[in-house]
Order: sequence, then C-alpha cells, then structure tokens
Amino acid sequence: MIETGNDGRTWLLTGRTSSYALRLTDADELLHLHWGPRITPADVAELATIPLPGERGFESRLDGHEEYPVEGGPRFAEPALIVRSETVRGTEWTFGDAVVDGDELRLGFRDDLAGLSLVLHYRLREGHDVLERWTDLTHTGRDGTLEVLRADSATWSLPLRDSWRLSQLHGRWGAESVLVRSAVTYGGKTIGSRRGHTGHQHLPWVALDPEGSATEEHGEVFSCALAWSGSWRIATRQLPGGRVQITGGCGHDDTGLVLLGPGDTFTTPVFAGVWSAEGFGGASAAWHRWQLEHVVPRADQDRPVLYNSWEATGFDVGEAQQRALAERAAAIGAELFVVDDGWFGTRTSDRSGLGDWTPNPDRFPDGLAPLATAVHELGMRFGIWVEPEMVNPDSDLYRRHPEWVQHVPGRVPAQFRNQLVLNLAREDVASYVEDQVHRLLESAPIDYVKWDFNRCFTDPGWPGEPYPQRLWVDHVRALYGILDRLRAAHPEVAFEACSGGGGRVDLGILSRTDQVWTSDNTDPADRLAIQYGFSQLHPARVMAAWVTDSPNHQMNGRVSSLRFRFVSAMAGVLGVGGHLTRWSEEDLAEARRWIDLYKSVRPVVQRGRLYRIGQPDGPGVSAVQYVLGDETVVLAFLRSQRFGEEPAPLRLRGLDPGATYVCRDSGREHRGAVLAHHGLRTGLRGDLDAAVFRLRRARTD
Ligand code: DGJ
Repeated sequence: MIETGNDGRTWLLTGRTSSYALRLTDADELLHLHWGPRITPADVAELATIPLPGERGFESRLDGHEEYPVEGGPRFAEPALIVRSETVRGTEWTFGDAVVDGDELRLGFRDDLAGLSLVLHYRLREGHDVLERWTDLTHTGRDGTLEVLRADSATWSLPLRDSWRLSQLHGRWGAESVLVRSAVTYGGKTIGSRRGHTGHQHLPWVALDPEGSATEEHGEVFSCALAWSGSWRIATRQLPGGRVQITGGCGHDDTGLVLLGPGDTFTTPVFAGVWSAEGFGGASAAWHRWQLEHVVPRADQDRPVLYNSWEATGFDVGEAQQRALAERAAAIGAELFVVDDGWFGTRTSDRSGLGDWTPNPDRFPDGLAPLATAVHELGMRFGIWVEPEMVNPDSDLYRRHPEWVQHVPGRVPAQFRNQLVLNLAREDVASYVEDQVHRLLESAPIDYVKWDFNRCFTDPGWPGEPYPQRLWVDHVRALYGILDRLRAAHPEVAFEACSGGGGRVDLGILSRTDQVWTSDNTDPADRLAIQYGFSQLHPARVMAAWVTDSPNHQMNGRVSSLRFRFVSAMAGVLGVGGHLTRWSEEDLAEARRWIDLYKSVRPVVQRGRLYRIGQPDGPGVSAVQYVLGDETVVLAFLRSQRFGEEPAPLRLRGLDPGATYVCRDSGREHRGAVLAHHGLRTGLRGDLDAAVFRLRRARTD
C-alpha cells in the first residue's frame, strides 16, 4: 500500500510488517524518513516536521538523510550517482512528478544543466516486506554525451542508533557464502566484484543490526541484496555524525559504466531491502518468500532429484559409460540425468573445445539424441552442461573468430583454465552464442541446461569500440537477454546457473534460472557452513546439493557416511554426483532409501519456512527445520561429540504449542510446547552423525 501525504510531498509504503517513508523538502531535497515497523500517515506527518540538523562546522546538513545522494553540491557521503560530460560534473535535481502505479512509486527529477532525468522506483509487493528499488537515468539533451561513472540502484539509510553490526557472506572457490559479522566503524566498507561475474568472494548481500543485538529469532535486522550478475559494489559507510548508509549498484569504481547519448536511458538493476523485527531468521524468511513468489521462475514446481556425471567421469565421457551411470541413477530414484563437461567438440580436457557446441563424434557418434532417448526411457529427464560465454584458443570458433574475445590489441590476454571470455557485448557474438544453444536444444530432447562460467574478466578490451567500458554491463545484459529468449523459445527446459560452483549466485540470475550450483565443494561437512550462509538470502528451492563419493576426492579427502552425505544434501535440491558404477549394491540400496525419503519431504524442504537451529560448526547438534502447513521436517547434524557430553535436544521453531505432533519416523507423539521448550532428542552421537525427523501436526487440543 502506498499513501501520499496531503501536501503531495511525503510518501508512505507499507508492507506486511514494515513501512518505508520519504519526503521532499521545499528545496526538492528527497529525504529518508523511516524504514522499520509499520507506521501511519500521522506518524509520517510528525517525522516530516523534524528539521534537518543545521550546518555544523564542516559537515553537510544533507549527509545521511538523502534517499539518493549524488555527487555535486554540499555532500560528502558516499555518492550513488557520478556523471560527467565535457562541461558538467555532478548533478543538481529539481523535482518533476510522483506517480503511484499499483504497488510501485516513481519519483521523477530533472537536471536541465546536465541534460538528465532521474526516476527513482520503489516497489513493495502486497503481503511482503521486501522493498525493490531501482533507478532510471535518461539523457534528455539534444546533443553531447554523458558518461555515467556510477549509477547505484539505491541508497538505504538506517535510523540513528548507538552502533551497528554488519553481516556479510564472503568466500572463495570451494568455500562460498561464509557468514561473518563485524562492527561498523566510521568510514566505508565496500564489498563487491571487479571480475565481470558476481564472484565467489562475496554474495551481493549485507545485513545490519543495531548494537549487534539481533539473534536468529529476535531483534531488528536491515538487509539489502543486489540483483546483478556482473561486477558490482555495495558500500556501507558510517558518516561523521554516526549515521549509516548502504549504497549499491552494478559496476566497480574505475571502469566507467555507460555512455548516454541523447534519448538514451540507463536502468539499474534492483537493489532490494528488507526490514525484520524477527532477527536474522525472520529476514531470511522474508527474502525466501519473496523470491519464491516474485523472483524465481516456476518456484511452485518442486525441483527433481538429479544425477550429475562431473565428479564421476570428469572430461572422460562417452555414450556407453553415461548410459551405465544413467541406469544406476534411475535405479536409485534420480529424476534428471545431467552429462557434465566433455561431451562436445574436442573437449577431452580443459585445454580445448570450448566454443564448439556439437557432440564429439568419437564419444557420441550419433549425437546426443540416443543417450537422451535412453535416459527418457529410464524415466528421467535429460540435461547437459554448457559454458557458452567462453572459448578455448584451441577451438574451431576461436580459429574462425579470434576477434570475438575480450582483448586489448598488443597485450597477451590472460588465460584462466586455458580459456578466454567471448565479448557478449558485441551483438554478433551474442546472437551467435544464442543460436548455438538454441540449435543444441533443438538437436536432441534436452530438458535441462547447466550454464557454467569458469573464469573472470581480465582483458576488458574491445578494439574498434569507442567506449569499451560498456562491455562490463552489456555482457551481463546480453546474457540476460539470451537466457530470457531461450527460456521463451524452450519453456519446458530448466536452467541451472553455475560459475565454478557459487560464482554467480544473485537475484538477477535467479530471476531467469531454476536453481544454482551452490559450490564445487561437495564435502558434506564443509557444505553445512556454505549452506548456512547461502540460506541467509536464498531458499532451499534453488540450492543444488549433491551426494558424492567418500573420501571426498574433489576437495578435502574427508570420509563420511552415506547417511551424513545424504542428510546434508537433502537441505536443498538433492542431487547425486558419485561414481555410481563403483558403488556397492548395499550403498545403492541405501541411496534409494534416502532418495525416497527426500521425495517424501521435498515440498516441505523446497517451499517451507526455514528455521536455522544452532551453528553448523558449533559444538552441539545443529539443524535446519522446514515448516509447511501441518508438516515439519528437521535435518539434524552433529559434527563431533565430546566424551561425556550429551548433545542438547533441538528446540524446534514455528510449531503450535497447543498441538500434538506425530513423528512419522519413530511413531512417537510430541506436544508442540515440549518440542519448543524442551526440544527433540535426536540420539545423534560420535562424529559426523545426522538424522531426519518428519513431524505432522495430529491435533490441536
Ligand atoms: C565447474 C562446475 O562448478 C563443475 O560442477 C563442473 O561443471 C565443471 N565446471 C566442468 O568443467
């Protein structure tokens, strides 16, 4: 709901539990008034009477209060907008109009000297607390060009409190989305990516809680996340007066973003924010529900259990061997069989073949169709791996079009994994790539595409292009366009986003893919921490997790039971990636039982409300609990038990204290109040133990 004040210069957006308010001064300064619990127009009227502090010493009266602080004028905060032309640097805005359009508020401004217009968008969807914000910037002049060095999507202003704590998700390849918290101190802290993709190093997400007071279930949390799959930055800055602002958008600082000619508009990605009074768990639940209802395509359809060949066969794939794996995968209950890297061109290692998207004739003499058909006959869907934004120098494509890669003439382009990045910002390259994938999807009955991206941008040159900087943004836009058109042309095909594991996990890619590959690290114990961080922002419904071999040869050599591996991977979209033709009959039979169990809890895991109980690397039992309607599923983990210490029971969440719950596994009845206050005894012991509990509300007394 959006309410406009009587003078037409205040706005109040109200969601399920939260409100957001802003006002325009007589001098057309757009000021932030409120982000927090629901308030009324009368409250906004009072907030609007609180004057800005006067100018004090060297400080600006506006800093920390503006909705969209720009470079120019008396402002020293982190600017959201930096533009320059031959004659003007910085902007000064005059209010134009306000439009309320359903659940969206648009505020328009113009700067006649710079020849620019600015529209700030705010959308708070019915029944949600995630406020989506983005910005349009249009060159309104008749001539000349304007260079946009920075155009953030939004700036979020926090209420003045004694102190703040910042939570972020940092990482690296194989160890993504590790949650860390630190005190906010004066000055700025910027996280982001200078790599051309979202990056393994940071998820584009921050959460701030005042005085470090929030827990998993209680306290205020202000959280923001960016919907962008290229380079990006989120800057959190505490200003001299103590106020804290968070500003974020696409691009990183020194590249330049876009050149606007007359009539051109640049629309930023969405930088969304959520306020919760129910701690980090409440903030995650708000993010998850919003993504399932408004971001992730077809999120009402549960994802199938997949088998992926990568850890089993690597680059050494062939039709007979994949058929053998497929037979085993079908026998244990997999519903989707995915052939990973190595099926195309001369791709027998990572040194060649990328770019040539036709089946390797030695490995698949009759193309992919026979294998796809065999997989279908086994009752599974069929998927393949691609990496269409890349090329190996040793490929037919590169030999034909060496000029299609990002490069700076005269410099030797850096190679990571023996590959170069195709310049998708070029229309001819983008349309070629799209056509190749389109043909591939028409060449065989393919139901699923794992879309990988295995190196960063290092040589962002574009010979002949007057403004090569645009390739950073335009590559991502081209990728989005290709995915959108492929999805429209092949609506039955599902897409998984992957970038060497979790290098491209963000709200932008999730609005056009069905799931993401969370991490190349399939060790089930390491995964618990990765999944804990991932779940801060994203729901289990998009988090692919595989059971692989033990010892874990891909990562750390850790030995773990099938039980622990399965329960760990059941916390997301379950998959299997082990070398099934080497598994014993007992292991295969056990795998079948776990997959059956997963199918019985899948709707609750993939679409239920998540509760995180304990820390996955803490000393006791930790768990993820999912609640959907009357059903509750608990996945419990014990990393290591100390002698003489019985792990504390799991105090469950989200249950009706007056109801009786039946555990479908033990047959025992439990009172909701007892489960909440005294907890569920898990019986876990020793090292790396795990269990699944399925509870159903039987009756309410
Ligand atoms: C990186 C991915 O994360 C892996 O799962 C696998 O698909 C390889 N690429 C294949 O090259």
